[in-house]
Amino acid sequence: MQEIKLRLYREGKVSFYATDLEELSKKGIPYTKADVFYNPDMKVNRDISVAVNSILKGDGKSTAIDMMAATGVRSIRWAVESNSDKVWANDKNPIAVHIIRKNIMLNNVEDKVKVTCRDAGMLASELREIGIKFWYVDLDPFGSPAPYIRDSLKIVRKGGILAVTATDTAPLFGVYPMKLFRYYRVLGIRTHFHKEFGIRALIYFILMEAALRDLIAIPLLAYSHLHYVRAYFLIERGALKFSRIAEENLGWVNYCECGNWSIKRSVELPERDICNLCGSRMRLMGPIWIGLYKNKEFVDKVMKFAPSEESKNVLKGIAEELDIPFYHNLDLISKKLKISSPGVSKVIEKLKERGFSASRSHAEPKAVKTNADLAEIIKILS
Ligand SMILES: C[S@@+](CC[C@H](N)C(=O)[O-])C[C@H]1O[C@@H](n2cnc3c(N)ncnc32)[C@H](O)[C@@H]1O
Repeated sequence: MQEIKLRLYREGKVSFYATDLEELSKKGIPYTKADVFYNPDMKVNRDISVAVNSILKGDGKSTAIDMMAATGVRSIRWAVESNSDKVWANDKNPIAVHIIRKNIMLNNVEDKVKVTCRDAGMLASELREIGIKFWYVDLDPFGSPAPYIRDSLKIVRKGGILAVTATDTAPLFGVYPMKLFRYYRVLGIRTHFHKEFGIRALIYFILMEAALRDLIAIPLLAYSHLHYVRAYFLIERGALKFSRIAEENLGWVNYCECGNWSIKRSVELPERDICNLCGSRMRLMGPIWIGLYKNKEFVDKVMKFAPSEESKNVLKGIAEELDIPFYHNLDLISKKLKISSPGVSKVIEKLKERGFSASRSHAEPKAVKTNADLAEIIKILS
């Protein structure tokens, strides 16, 4: 353990102490190894959580827990900026809890924010035993959230929201297929659309974990940004709704190394197709969520309450993209065709001229989402 030198930071409307990141970097210690974790790059992630809690406040659903709070910046921002009625900040690291208390005092929110130093899973079980549940549960672990989902669901009120961050993008994006299978029970490899595949794999996993508790987890907003995937779910009673939702929204991908793919809506394992472009046998990936990962009304509301331009821009990117699975990565296609990569807007324009729907992808700057297939895109680019 290094000697902690604290520094005062500001984010949104709160000031807070966190490990001095500059000092740490001078010593050659990465921020991930700080005694108490703080990552300024996660500001947009926290900004959007502030907006969601502001909506919940307006709906009279204003209780929230940060299961893994680190410095407490996230939960203190809900108390101050979303004006949440009751906030709970938990972390299993006693040094973090010491700093959370300090930060609570600094922001004068002692009457609103309660602190505990517990393992997240144990805390959830204990809270459920004594009948404490929240309208908003936020899970922001190091790496994969998969081991904590089942416990976190114990303390979300019906009609409440579960918010999940996953920073284990290498498995989710199919870079480590065995880890993707081990953690999320999804088969897949790295593809041309790996970021969206990761979003859809995470949603599938959380839907299935909720199903084990006779709950249904409906994605309200999910996105890939920087080094993480983030998803917000509406949690409802759901044993009876499950089969309809699974049949309408679960599916598989037939994927070919040439970049071609097709989607099959099916809970059961479908046949492997032959690629209509190169004749190879395609690989099956899934199961994944192939339905919508944004609820337009919810995203519009979040945008209204978003406390920064940066977070509004991320939300705008999500709001404007087509609601269909996956995208074509123009850089990768151009590389294969040995041509220079065209501008995204130009390709979207040409697709629309030919009668197709087309948009950008929020996840990948050089990608196009469209109902045209790869053969059509190749025609346009060639
Ligand atoms: C990524 S940080 C959280 C960052 C914070 N939510 C924010 O927005 O700044 C993860 C935190 O989870 C804590 N943690 C890890 N495993 C935990 C567990 N099983 N129960 C409770 N806290 C845990 C770590 O001590 C660390 O502070």
